[in-house]
Amino acid sequence: MLYNDLRGWMEKVDEFGEMRTVEGCDWKYEMGAVSEVYARNPPYSAILFDKIKDYPAGHRVLVGVHHQSLKRQCLTTHLPLDYDRNQFIQAWRQRLNNPTYIPPRVVDSGPVMENVFDGDDVDLFSLPVPHWHEGDGGRYMGTAHLVITRDMDEGWVNIGCYRVMVHDKNTLALYISPGKQGRIIRQKYFDQGRPCPVAISFGDDPLLLTAAANSLPWGKSEYDYAGGIRGQAVDVVIGKHTGLPIPAFSEITIEGECYPDNQRPEGPYGEWTGYYASGERTEPIIKVKRLMHRNRPILTGAPSSRPPGGSDDNLVRSAFIWDHMEKAGVPDIRGVACFQGRFFTAVSIKQRYPGHAKQAGFVAAQCGAGAYLGRYIVVVDDDIDPYDLNDVTWAMCTRSDPQADIDFIRRAWSGPLDPVIPRDKKGFSTRAVIDATRPYEWMKDYPKVSGSSEEMKELAVKKYGKFFK
Ligand SMILES: Cc1cc2nc3c(=O)[nH]c(=O)nc-3n(C[C@H](O)[C@H](O)[C@H](O)COP(=O)(O)O)c2cc1C
Repeated sequence: MLYNDLRGWMEKVDEFGEMRTVEGCDWKYEMGAVSEVYARNPPYSAILFDKIKDYPAGHRVLVGVHHQSLKRQCLTTHLPLDYDRNQFIQAWRQRLNNPTYIPPRVVDSGPVMENVFDGDDVDLFSLPVPHWHEGDGGRYMGTAHLVITRDMDEGWVNIGCYRVMVHDKNTLALYISPGKQGRIIRQKYFDQGRPCPVAISFGDDPLLLTAAANSLPWGKSEYDYAGGIRGQAVDVVIGKHTGLPIPAFSEITIEGECYPDNQRPEGPYGEWTGYYASGERTEPIIKVKRLMHRNRPILTGAPSSRPPGGSDDNLVRSAFIWDHMEKAGVPDIRGVACFQGRFFTAVSIKQRYPGHAKQAGFVAAQCGAGAYLGRYIVVVDDDIDPYDLNDVTWAMCTRSDPQADIDFIRRAWSGPLDPVIPRDKKGFSTRAVIDATRPYEWMKDYPKVSGSSEEMKELAVKKYGKFFK
């Protein structure tokens, strides 16, 4: 194990030069603007904010954990730091095929218990919670964090990342999109008229966030999954008020209850789609019973905005979709690439039989990792690099006939974040599955691709490359 917590991870990132510290920012709007300008533009560093206005030095906020950095994603997911995109995805595919699960280890105490506040002593504003964007409806404490709940019937612990806004010193808003496992678990409590116990952890080993943000099968805990990747159990303390396992090396945690009959306005929030699509709605609140944090705590954040500011888990999601497609029986997949968060997925296949392309497209559109809030799924032949949008759009323009090659899946899984669905109709959306492969029945007679052969190109470089140095 290279490191055990967020601080250890940050040290490693600092060693390879991808960490910057910014001092003196206002929690109101300034951290959001700096993140948008600097975390998402070269050199794509992770940014640690310190000496934040109104707060003591050492109360810090970290953003841009993975933004645009394959090296940081390799560090997080325990892969060699020099892996390229392809090696990264192949390694993840292997993992997904042979997953190892190591359950968390319960310990009596941990650094997160250095400062403990119960009941009236809880004050969420004691931490530099950012108001990220001018258009946001409040201060968002949870944008890159873990929301921990337990399924009341089966007893397993789920972790997801669902945004959390601060209402007042001990009240939070929790927004979970319809269909997410965390929402299904919460609803089971609500259906019985009971509050749902919740623990939230801010500032963890980023591997836990990667696990939390991806589609594990129902019943599999992200703790066990992350433990398997680390090769070592995650240390947890048992929450006094909820009995939930809480990362012992977390920077900041809260425990509380989320109520079925106590809702307050949540949002708007600048979402990963690049819009304020879900606007302001009422959502269940969490009453916080306990706040714990380390000395010099670090709150993690992932303020989103229009691309490239949205979700940056695309590589891991690509591997998940590839894996889910294979497990659903789609053969000869050569690549999967996600763009625009979840909205655009390109899949390349080696066509083996009539209907293979259609099968690939529909399964990619509806498998566990691909079903939520998609829009376009494009299937291309194996001579097209799905990661190269020029290649993908060339295939769309030259190998598909829109009238014949675009199919729709209507009333598919969407949600309030979908900007193209009007407010009063949110819930469903349509997928377009575009078959941009050469038509199977006359594939062999399809017009040849123009240009020089590989041999001629190699010769050109060998003989004339000197004129281009
Ligand atoms: C930075 C970040 C923020 C996210 N915010 C939300 C959110 O506010 N609400 C939500 O439902 N999903 C959000 N997600 C997506 C979920 O965390 C993701 O779909 C996860 O797999 C859900 O876990 P579950 O299937 O165990 O419920 C976010 C993901 C990331 C990476």
